[in-house]
Amino acid sequence: MVIGKPLFTEDQIQTKVEELARKINDDYKGRDILAVGLLKGAFMFYSDLVRHLNGPLTVDFIMSSSYVSDRSSGKVTVHYDIREPITGKDVLIIEDIIDTGISLNYLLERLRQRSPKSLKTCVFLDKRCRREIDIPIDYVGFEIPDEFVIGYGIDYNDQFRNLPYISILKKST
Ligand code: IMP
Ligand code: MG
Repeated sequence: MVIGKPLFTEDQIQTKVEELARKINDDYKGRDILAVGLLKGAFMFYSDLVRHLNGPLTVDFIMSSSYVSDRSSGKVTVHYDIREPITGKDVLIIEDIIDTGISLNYLLERLRQRSPKSLKTCVFLDKRCRREIDIPIDYVGFEIPDEFVIGYGIDYNDQFRNLPYISILKKST
């Protein structure tokens, strides 16, 4: 495995996070946000983003998995779910990366059935060219090409999540 040079540096990431937070703050203006982070991948982006969001805000998480090593299994398993009712709440889903859209589509459908007042999505990295299910993403950090990336919460076999920057992972030959 070879970790390439940063695709996005810490500075570029933080600048983008602040830009996204400004847009979200403008759109929600004083409304209570239920910020739902998708674990594990979104943990770093989530904690950076919520620091810049104006209150009132509550935090919660969903832990699901759809990936086996470096490819999507196409099957989503929920390991941990939001415990409070979300009926009538303004829910903002915060995710690290969207690829085929299968995972997020599944989770959005599941949450929609619980009648939130609104349901929006904020995704840090978007591999748009790989999309199989066209779901609306309200806030996107960066659009990226079809490369396997790691760092800033994003893993390969549960490793590399702690890198403070994002790099492309190349399989060594
Ligand atoms: P989707 O269901 O195909 O959209 O997959 C979304 C999930 O796959 C993300 O939340 C990540 O956990 C994982 N994923 C997609 N692309 C990458 C990548 O380049 N590196 C690491 N994980 C990825
Ligand atoms: Mg994820």
